Amino acid sequence: MPNILVLYDSVTGHTAKMAALVAKGARKAAGADVRLKSVDQASAADIRWCDGIAVGSPTYLGSLSWRMKKFWDEMQEELWGKIDGRVGCAFSSSGGWGGGAELSCLSTLILLMNYGFLVFGVTDYVGKKLTLHYGSVVAGEPRTEEENASCERLGERLARWAALRGAPQKIDHQSL
Ligand SMILES: Cc1cc2nc3c(=O)[nH]c(=O)nc-3n(C[C@H](O)[C@H](O)[C@H](O)COP(=O)(O)O)c2cc1C
Repeated sequence: MPNILVLYDSVTGHTAKMAALVAKGARKAAGADVRLKSVDQASAADIRWCDGIAVGSPTYLGSLSWRMKKFWDEMQEELWGKIDGRVGCAFSSSGGWGGGAELSCLSTLILLMNYGFLVFGVTDYVGKKLTLHYGSVVAGEPRTEEENASCERLGERLARWAALRGAPQKIDHQSL
């Protein structure tokens, strides 16, 4: 019964639509408890609660949005070193194909790795020439069946991987 958080930033609504589809996909996995929250609504308690997280951001200048970065920067004192071992993935809406959405996903995955998340991509093709190796990426809002499937597949896979996580273990940190 994994707890899944879909956390997103969105100004014009495109990434928000992706997030709703990612959450829909996560709910396909039996027993998943799914929270869908914007970066303004989410708190450290949501991060602690989740076994798996999908983080979505609009692509801004080839990276994640400053609001999403700020959220994680501000969590550093409270959460860093205390949430290792959860599962994470990324998604992004950009203005156009080739506009850097995968770079935005990679920036997000690096950020999650920094907090100790186990990050993943998906090798499936969900349509002709459409895959999500680094996370789900869409130009603008998801419109086509394949674009919707890309977001849903990410959420479903997240819930399945997070279900394997098992009970959190106490880690002895060896800080020098
Ligand atoms: C400050 C800013 C920077 C952006 N940088 C990029 C970019 O590097 N590449 C791109 O394809 N689109 C870029 N865009 C367009 C957004 O990624 C795109 O409109 C996205 O769909 C917005 O998502 P949202 O509706 O969730 O806010 C940028 C938009 C803004 C406002």
